[in-house]
Amino acid sequence: MGRIIAIDGPSGSGKSTAARGVARRLGYHYLDTGAMYRAAAVACLRAGLAADDRAAIVQTCRDLDLDLGADPDDPFVRLAGDDITAAIRQPAVSAWVSAVAVIPEARAELVRRQQAIIARGDFVLEGRDTTTVVAPQAQLRLLLAADPAERLRRRGLELGRAGQTLNQDQLRDQVIRRDRDDSTLVDFQQAAPGVRWLDSTNLTAQAVQDQIIAWAGQADLTAGRAWRPAPDRLFDPSVPDG
Ligand code: DC
Repeated sequence: MGRIIAIDGPSGSGKSTAARGVARRLGYHYLDTGAMYRAAAVACLRAGLAADDRAAIVQTCRDLDLDLGADPDDPFVRLAGDDITAAIRQPAVSAWVSAVAVIPEARAELVRRQQAIIARGDFVLEGRDTTTVVAPQAQLRLLLAADPAERLRRRGLELGRAGQTLNQDQLRDQVIRRDRDDSTLVDFQQAAPGVRWLDSTNLTAQAVQDQIIAWAGQADLTAGRAWRPAPDRLFDPSVPDG
Protein backbone atom coordinates (compact mmCIF):
# COMPACT_ATOMS: atom_id res chain seq x y z
CA MET A 1 0.00 0.00 0.00
CA GLY A 2 1.12 3.52 -0.72
CA ARG A 3 0.58 6.50 1.51
CA ILE A 4 -3.09 7.23 2.09
CA ILE A 5 -4.97 10.24 3.44
CA ALA A 6 -8.69 9.50 3.84
CA ILE A 7 -11.22 12.28 4.31
CA ASP A 8 -14.83 11.71 5.36
CA GLY A 9 -17.60 14.12 5.99
CA PRO A 10 -21.17 15.05 5.09
CA SER A 11 -22.29 17.11 2.06
CA GLY A 12 -20.93 20.63 2.07
CA SER A 13 -18.30 19.92 4.73
CA GLY A 14 -15.65 20.90 2.20
CA LYS A 15 -14.14 17.46 1.73
CA SER A 16 -13.74 17.74 -2.06
CA THR A 17 -12.00 21.09 -1.89
CA ALA A 18 -9.80 19.84 0.94
CA ALA A 19 -9.00 16.49 -0.68
CA ARG A 20 -8.17 18.00 -4.06
CA GLY A 21 -6.12 20.82 -2.55
CA VAL A 22 -4.10 18.48 -0.35
CA ALA A 23 -3.53 16.03 -3.23
CA ARG A 24 -2.36 18.90 -5.42
CA ARG A 25 -0.03 20.32 -2.80
CA LEU A 26 1.48 16.97 -1.84
CA GLY A 27 1.55 15.50 -5.34
CA TYR A 28 -0.74 12.61 -4.43
CA HIS A 29 -3.31 10.94 -6.64
CA TYR A 30 -6.92 11.88 -5.93
CA LEU A 31 -9.93 9.59 -5.68
CA ASP A 32 -13.48 10.86 -5.19
CA THR A 33 -15.38 7.77 -4.08
CA GLY A 34 -18.67 9.67 -4.26
CA ALA A 35 -18.09 10.12 -8.00
CA MET A 36 -18.20 6.32 -8.30
CA TYR A 37 -21.59 6.14 -6.56
CA ARG A 38 -22.76 8.95 -8.82
CA ALA A 39 -21.44 7.19 -11.93
CA ALA A 40 -23.30 4.04 -10.87
CA ALA A 41 -26.47 6.14 -10.50
CA VAL A 42 -25.97 7.54 -14.02
CA ALA A 43 -25.64 4.00 -15.37
CA CYS A 44 -28.83 2.95 -13.54
CA LEU A 45 -30.73 5.98 -14.80
CA ARG A 46 -29.56 5.35 -18.35
CA ALA A 47 -30.72 1.76 -18.06
CA GLY A 48 -34.12 3.02 -16.88
CA LEU A 49 -33.94 1.08 -13.61
CA ALA A 50 -36.44 1.60 -10.82
CA ALA A 51 -34.88 2.88 -7.59
CA ASP A 52 -36.18 -0.20 -5.73
CA ASP A 53 -34.81 -2.75 -8.22
CA ARG A 54 -31.96 -3.75 -5.95
CA ALA A 55 -30.80 -6.77 -7.92
CA ALA A 56 -30.48 -4.77 -11.13
CA ILE A 57 -28.70 -1.91 -9.32
CA VAL A 58 -26.16 -4.33 -7.86
CA GLN A 59 -25.60 -5.96 -11.25
CA THR A 60 -25.13 -2.52 -12.83
CA CYS A 61 -22.43 -1.75 -10.25
CA ARG A 62 -20.68 -5.03 -11.04
CA ASP A 63 -20.80 -4.29 -14.78
CA LEU A 64 -19.66 -0.64 -14.54
CA ASP A 65 -17.03 0.25 -17.13
CA LEU A 66 -15.43 3.23 -15.36
CA ASP A 67 -12.38 5.34 -16.11
CA LEU A 68 -11.50 7.97 -13.51
CA GLY A 69 -9.02 10.83 -13.63
CA ALA A 70 -6.62 10.71 -10.68
CA ASP A 71 -5.26 14.21 -11.23
CA PRO A 72 -6.88 16.53 -8.65
CA ASP A 73 -6.99 19.20 -11.37
CA ASP A 74 -8.82 16.95 -13.81
CA PRO A 75 -10.86 14.31 -11.99
CA PHE A 76 -12.82 13.21 -15.04
CA VAL A 77 -15.32 10.38 -14.95
CA ARG A 78 -16.00 8.23 -18.01
CA LEU A 79 -18.63 5.58 -18.29
CA ALA A 80 -17.97 3.15 -21.13
CA GLY A 81 -15.83 5.86 -22.73
CA ASP A 82 -18.50 8.55 -22.41
CA ASP A 83 -17.46 11.62 -20.40
CA ILE A 84 -19.98 12.00 -17.56
CA THR A 85 -17.91 14.37 -15.39
CA ALA A 86 -20.61 17.06 -15.52
CA ALA A 87 -23.57 14.67 -15.72
CA ILE A 88 -22.81 13.08 -12.33
CA ARG A 89 -23.49 16.45 -10.64
CA GLN A 90 -26.97 16.91 -12.12
CA PRO A 91 -29.86 17.14 -9.63
CA ALA A 92 -31.51 13.98 -11.01
CA VAL A 93 -28.35 12.05 -10.24
CA SER A 94 -27.94 13.61 -6.79
CA ALA A 95 -31.53 12.68 -6.04
CA TRP A 96 -31.01 9.06 -7.22
CA VAL A 97 -27.60 8.25 -5.82
CA SER A 98 -28.80 7.19 -2.36
CA ALA A 99 -30.68 4.33 -4.06
CA VAL A 100 -27.24 2.92 -4.87
CA ALA A 101 -25.52 3.95 -1.64
CA VAL A 102 -28.04 2.17 0.64
CA ILE A 103 -27.52 -1.29 -0.90
CA PRO A 104 -24.78 -3.24 0.92
CA GLU A 105 -23.90 -5.40 -2.12
CA ALA A 106 -23.57 -2.31 -4.33
CA ARG A 107 -21.33 -0.71 -1.71
CA ALA A 108 -19.22 -3.88 -1.47
CA GLU A 109 -18.60 -3.82 -5.21
CA LEU A 110 -17.64 -0.13 -5.26
CA VAL A 111 -15.47 -0.51 -2.16
CA ARG A 112 -13.67 -3.45 -3.81
CA ARG A 113 -12.86 -1.24 -6.80
CA GLN A 114 -11.79 1.67 -4.59
CA GLN A 115 -9.41 -0.55 -2.63
CA ALA A 116 -7.91 -1.89 -5.88
CA ILE A 117 -7.36 1.67 -7.08
CA ILE A 118 -5.68 2.99 -3.93
CA ALA A 119 -3.39 -0.03 -3.78
CA ARG A 120 -1.65 1.48 -6.81
CA GLY A 121 -0.03 4.54 -5.28
CA ASP A 122 -0.21 7.46 -2.89
CA PHE A 123 -3.75 8.76 -2.62
CA VAL A 124 -5.93 11.35 -1.03
CA LEU A 125 -9.36 9.82 -1.10
CA GLU A 126 -12.62 11.29 -0.02
CA GLY A 127 -16.00 9.86 0.79
CA ARG A 128 -18.19 8.90 3.65
CA ASP A 129 -16.82 5.49 4.50
CA THR A 130 -13.23 5.99 3.46
CA THR A 131 -11.85 6.27 7.00
CA THR A 132 -13.74 3.24 8.28
CA VAL A 133 -14.39 0.79 5.43
CA VAL A 134 -12.34 1.64 2.35
CA ALA A 135 -9.05 2.57 4.01
CA PRO A 136 -9.13 2.00 7.78
CA GLN A 137 -5.36 1.41 7.46
CA ALA A 138 -4.73 4.92 6.06
CA GLN A 139 -1.88 6.73 7.81
CA LEU A 140 -4.06 9.84 8.16
CA ARG A 141 -7.83 9.69 8.53
CA LEU A 142 -10.02 12.64 9.22
CA LEU A 143 -13.62 13.66 9.40
CA LEU A 144 -14.47 17.15 8.21
CA ALA A 145 -17.48 18.70 9.85
CA ALA A 146 -19.37 21.96 9.40
CA ASP A 147 -22.61 23.43 10.74
CA PRO A 148 -25.69 22.55 8.68
CA ALA A 149 -26.36 26.20 7.72
CA GLU A 150 -22.81 26.55 6.43
CA ARG A 151 -23.04 23.25 4.57
CA LEU A 152 -26.23 24.41 2.84
CA ARG A 153 -24.58 27.70 1.92
CA ARG A 154 -21.53 25.99 0.44
CA ARG A 155 -23.51 23.43 -1.54
CA GLY A 156 -25.69 26.27 -2.89
CA LEU A 157 -22.59 28.17 -4.01
CA GLU A 158 -21.07 25.08 -5.58
CA LEU A 159 -24.23 24.28 -7.53
CA GLY A 160 -24.55 27.94 -8.53
CA ARG A 161 -21.08 27.81 -10.02
CA ALA A 162 -22.16 24.74 -11.97
CA GLY A 163 -25.10 26.73 -13.35
CA GLN A 164 -27.75 25.06 -11.19
CA THR A 165 -30.13 27.16 -9.14
CA LEU A 166 -31.96 25.32 -6.38
CA ASN A 167 -34.48 26.71 -3.97
CA GLN A 168 -33.99 26.20 -0.22
CA ASP A 169 -36.21 23.10 -0.14
CA GLN A 170 -34.32 21.42 -2.97
CA LEU A 171 -31.04 22.33 -1.34
CA ARG A 172 -32.18 20.92 2.01
CA ASP A 173 -33.22 17.74 0.21
CA GLN A 174 -29.79 17.40 -1.36
CA VAL A 175 -27.80 18.10 1.76
CA ILE A 176 -29.78 17.23 4.89
CA ARG A 177 -32.15 14.52 3.62
CA ARG A 178 -29.46 12.77 1.63
CA ASP A 179 -27.03 12.73 4.54
CA ARG A 180 -29.76 11.30 6.75
CA ASP A 181 -30.58 8.57 4.20
CA ASP A 182 -26.94 7.74 3.61
CA SER A 183 -26.13 7.58 7.31
CA THR A 184 -28.52 4.67 7.82
CA LEU A 185 -25.73 2.38 6.61
CA VAL A 186 -22.56 4.35 7.22
CA ASP A 187 -22.27 6.68 10.15
CA PHE A 188 -20.11 9.37 8.69
CA GLN A 189 -21.09 12.15 11.05
CA GLN A 190 -19.17 10.74 14.02
CA ALA A 191 -15.44 10.28 13.92
CA ALA A 192 -14.46 6.62 14.40
CA PRO A 193 -11.67 5.84 16.91
CA GLY A 194 -8.35 7.15 15.63
CA VAL A 195 -10.01 9.49 13.14
CA ARG A 196 -9.16 13.16 13.53
CA TRP A 197 -12.06 15.59 13.59
CA LEU A 198 -11.85 19.01 11.97
CA ASP A 199 -14.65 21.58 12.08
CA SER A 200 -14.36 23.71 8.95
CA THR A 201 -17.32 26.01 9.68
CA ASN A 202 -15.15 29.04 10.37
CA LEU A 203 -12.05 28.06 8.43
CA THR A 204 -11.01 29.07 4.93
CA ALA A 205 -10.27 26.32 2.42
CA GLN A 206 -6.60 27.22 2.71
CA ALA A 207 -6.65 26.90 6.51
CA VAL A 208 -8.33 23.48 6.27
CA GLN A 209 -5.62 22.29 3.87
CA ASP A 210 -2.86 23.76 6.02
CA GLN A 211 -4.14 21.82 9.02
CA ILE A 212 -4.38 18.56 7.08
CA ILE A 213 -0.89 19.03 5.65
CA ALA A 214 0.45 19.73 9.14
CA TRP A 215 -1.08 16.43 10.34
CA ALA A 216 0.25 14.68 7.24
CA GLY A 217 3.71 15.96 8.15
CA GLN A 218 3.37 14.53 11.65
CA ALA A 219 2.34 11.18 10.13
CA ASP A 220 5.41 11.23 7.89
CA LEU A 221 3.34 11.60 4.72
CA THR A 222 5.00 14.65 3.24
CA ALA A 223 8.66 13.67 2.96
CA GLY A 224 9.95 14.07 -0.57
CA ARG A 225 6.55 15.09 -1.92
CA ALA A 226 7.28 18.01 -4.23
CA TRP A 227 6.48 16.18 -7.40
CA ARG A 228 3.40 15.01 -9.27
CA PRO A 229 3.32 11.26 -9.69
CA ALA A 230 2.50 9.47 -12.90
CA PRO A 231 0.24 8.12 -14.23
CA ASP A 232 -2.52 10.68 -13.99
CA ARG A 233 -5.30 8.29 -14.92
CA LEU A 234 -6.95 5.48 -13.02
CA PHE A 235 -7.93 2.58 -15.14
CA ASP A 236 -10.70 0.36 -14.03
CA PRO A 237 -8.86 -2.22 -11.91
CA SER A 238 -10.89 -5.00 -13.50
CA VAL A 239 -9.48 -4.10 -16.94
CA PRO A 240 -5.75 -4.51 -17.68
CA ASP A 241 -3.84 -1.23 -18.09
CA GLY A 242 -3.05 0.11 -21.53
O1 DC B 1 -19.97 13.07 -1.77
P1 DC B 1 -21.03 12.99 -2.83
O2 DC B 1 -22.21 13.91 -2.59
O3 DC B 1 -20.52 13.16 -4.22
O4 DC B 1 -21.58 11.50 -2.71
C1 DC B 1 -22.57 11.01 -3.57
C2 DC B 1 -23.39 9.93 -2.89
O5 DC B 1 -22.65 8.75 -2.71
C3 DC B 1 -23.97 10.30 -1.55
O6 DC B 1 -25.35 9.97 -1.57
C4 DC B 1 -23.26 9.43 -0.55
C5 DC B 1 -22.70 8.32 -1.37
N1 DC B 1 -21.36 7.93 -0.95
C6 DC B 1 -21.23 6.89 -0.07
O7 DC B 1 -22.24 6.36 0.40
N2 DC B 1 -19.98 6.46 0.28
C7 DC B 1 -18.90 7.06 -0.22
N3 DC B 1 -17.69 6.63 0.12
C8 DC B 1 -19.03 8.15 -1.10
C9 DC B 1 -20.29 8.56 -1.43
